[in-house]
Amino acid sequence: MTAGSPNQEQARDAIGILIEVGTALCSTLRLRDLLATMMERARTVLAAEASSVMLIDESGAALRWEVAIGAGAGKLQTLVVPLGSGISGRVAASGKAIRIDDAQGDPRWEGQRYDAESGFTTRSILCVPIVAHGHVIGVVQVLNRRAGPFTDDDQSLLEALAGMGGVAIENARLYENLEQQVQARTADLTQTLAQLRATQAQLVQSEKMAALGDLVAGVAHEINTPLGAVTSNVDLIGRALSKARDAIGDAPELQRAKQMIERSVQLGEVTRDGCQRIATIVRSLRNFARLDEAEHKPADLQEGLESTLTLAAHILKNRVQVVRDYQTLPQVDCHANQLNQVFLNLIVNAAQAIDDQGAIGVRTRHRPGVGVDGKGSENDTVTVEISDTGCGIPPEKLGRIFDPGFTTKGVGVGTGLGLAISYRIVSDHQGRIEVESEPGKGSTFRIILPVKPV
Ligand SMILES: Nc1ncnc2c1ncn2[C@@H]1O[C@H](COP(=O)(O)OP(=O)(O)OP(=O)(O)O)[C@@H](O)[C@H]1O
Ligand SMILES: [Mg+2]
Repeated sequence: MTAGSPNQEQARDAIGILIEVGTALCSTLRLRDLLATMMERARTVLAAEASSVMLIDESGAALRWEVAIGAGAGKLQTLVVPLGSGISGRVAASGKAIRIDDAQGDPRWEGQRYDAESGFTTRSILCVPIVAHGHVIGVVQVLNRRAGPFTDDDQSLLEALAGMGGVAIENARLYENLEQQVQARTADLTQTLAQLRATQAQLVQSEKMAALGDLVAGVAHEINTPLGAVTSNVDLIGRALSKARDAIGDAPELQRAKQMIERSVQLGEVTRDGCQRIATIVRSLRNFARLDEAEHKPADLQEGLESTLTLAAHILKNRVQVVRDYQTLPQVDCHANQLNQVFLNLIVNAAQAIDDQGAIGVRTRHRPGVGVDGKGSENDTVTVEISDTGCGIPPEKLGRIFDPGFTTKGVGVGTGLGLAISYRIVSDHQGRIEVESEPGKGSTFRIILPVKPV
């Protein structure tokens, strides 16, 4: 084996260095790490005291110090050099390297200011452009070669390093750009997913309602006919029994029969009460299934609220105080009867939630230019809030209160249909119903309705 000539040795060294630098540059896609690596390698490879990398900024008119290493380098990081001025500015503008052996005595060097800032004394300089896709994107600069001035070989090596750096920087920028796009896209997708989930929940809810509506309409119809028969039979039997009782008179031998008739009459009354209760439920069911359709007409909601409050007076009695906070509302296109039913359901619930003394707040607001979703819209909306100082709803139950049949009021007290019906009616008006509740403090139900549903 023969040893190579000194030139060959040097070339092999340079290739080794470049391979090593290339590998280091390929090992990261983070721009900042990459620039730091590039600068650090330039300094070590060229045995220089300081090095820096500057990139052309967004304006395209100036270089910005990205990374610098060496005495006082920290002070330089905020500096900006206009293209065409100073050594680095000229290299960037011309795309040609500049090498200076004795800075202090060279008229091309105007870096006294930087030396003063950093406390560094510049002796020799080698500055080469960083090129990517045929354009200068920045410069890499090494200062003060430790052993004598920079050589041609140094320049070739730094140019090769800058060439690799240029490609790596472009890749890193593309990657960062891509990463930003991916992040933006992910944020978009997350939002879309949340919207889809909300829509799905709404769809499931309205599907449930629609399916239940059909079922309920059928059941209500089926119950109504026999119920009519039972009610009128109970009535007839009651009357017949009363007549029989009167006919028996006070005959002592028939006293026992008379007692039985009396008992039957009483039982008949209980039965009649039961029938009435069933009839009320069937009416709710029919309402729920919207069997009594009427057309949409402009209506005064405040009037509706007032007549509903009058209707509900017997349950409010003296125990619940009503606090009104009305704003003048435009007429709202609606099924007034249905909305009144919603108000009644909410007011009755509020009254039932108040154990002893308490208050119910009724608040109306006009929201010009605000849509049902709370965003800007051509269509105005109105809100009606019914709040109470009652028992409140525990968070685990809050998600179920609109489910048909959900009640906490015990058998014979609640049917659990009030809110399900209200939800259905408000949805049919293209509105929304919201609830806020704090156990022990009270609840607020808010109905948001478009003034003119489309
Ligand atoms: N204002 C309120 N304060 C506390 N809990 C409430 C209130 N409104 C509704 N709830 C809860 O939601 C449940 C469902 O209400 P919903 O009106 O649908 O049925 P209900 O009142 O139980 O029976 P129904 O209205 O059919 O007579 C209630 O049982 C109650 O637990
Ligand atoms: Mg109710």
